[in-house]
Amino acid sequence: MSACREQVTGEFNRRFGESPAFILRAPGRVNLIGEHTDYNDGFVFPMAIDRATWIALRPREDRTVHLYSMDHGKETTFDSSRPERGKGWQEYPKGVAWALNEDGYDLKGWEGVTICDVPLGAGLSSSASFELAVARAFACSSGFAWDGPRMALAGQKAENQWVGVNCGIMDQMISAVGQRDHAVLIDCRDLSFRHVPLPPGTSVVVMDTATRRGLVDSAYNERREQCEVAARHFGVKVLRDVSADDFAARESELNDLTRRRARHVITENARTLRAADVMEKGQARSLGRLMNESHDSLRDDFEVTNHELNVIVDIARDMDGCYGARMTGAGFGGCAVALVERSKAKDFAGMVSRQYKDTTGREPNFYICRAEAGAGLE
Ligand code: GLA
Repeated sequence: MSACREQVTGEFNRRFGESPAFILRAPGRVNLIGEHTDYNDGFVFPMAIDRATWIALRPREDRTVHLYSMDHGKETTFDSSRPERGKGWQEYPKGVAWALNEDGYDLKGWEGVTICDVPLGAGLSSSASFELAVARAFACSSGFAWDGPRMALAGQKAENQWVGVNCGIMDQMISAVGQRDHAVLIDCRDLSFRHVPLPPGTSVVVMDTATRRGLVDSAYNERREQCEVAARHFGVKVLRDVSADDFAARESELNDLTRRRARHVITENARTLRAADVMEKGQARSLGRLMNESHDSLRDDFEVTNHELNVIVDIARDMDGCYGARMTGAGFGGCAVALVERSKAKDFAGMVSRQYKDTTGREPNFYICRAEAGAGLE
């Protein structure tokens, strides 16, 4: 039994004097390829990881939500039909209640305990996992059917309009629709998706540089605007609708910066579709090559890597058994991801860790991840 599951169950028992009616979890994620494409209506290829937000709960007859967070050592109580704005971790559950109300759901209350083992702020989508866990809790207490994409949209709406972070749809989608041992190719335009099994004999290793993205919001929003400017030049709303041929025919009309931003998104969409195809065929080597190309494009054209991400990726690529490595998530700090021969994954983590520390003086964290199922009842 997972440690988190034991902990929320134990805490629930202590607080309520009985066992929880429901235990559920919603995972964090690592993106294998398809970066800064989601808000361009493009393609992403993430997997849900074996780290998650857990909630143990029992439904209530009224509309009140009462939740104790073991991570913060604090509790919150709010009316799910009329949450009020405030500050702190409780804005996530309140925002999700607000978004579900807006989408027409009739919410019932619940009370329970939550805990999370997705590292916070590392770029592994702890917030999306919290949002989807809360959405799942409302589905249990209110008795409505689980609709992954619709729940992901509610989570994103909470994040964008209640918490105030301007993210795309990738993190919430993968937390909603992940599948064990599979990555998921998601079309961020219509939210259709395809589960693809990970190549046999490989491990996905997340490498946390122990740098954090700091003032990322402004840089992230700036990239979004640059993409919109580029799209407008081609007479479309989003870069998804610019083909490689359109781009080649007219790229000389763009200034250098806009041209490089657009080139990243357009080539990244193509790489992501190819990645799903080669993975379907079990071709780890080709997949690794595409991951390498993706990082280079994010470093040179999109300019969202930092020094430490480039260092850890370079070290990783030189290791025996590594098929490919790249930064993952928004960038500017946080994590990189490598595809590694499974039998070598432990040694790989140890050796990259040592070299990275020698080079940068920072202590990195490594997670050899398993692809897990999306939000669900245990
Ligand atoms: C963050 C956002 C996602 C996506 C990535 C970049 O993780 O939350 O929506 O835009 O950055 O691919």
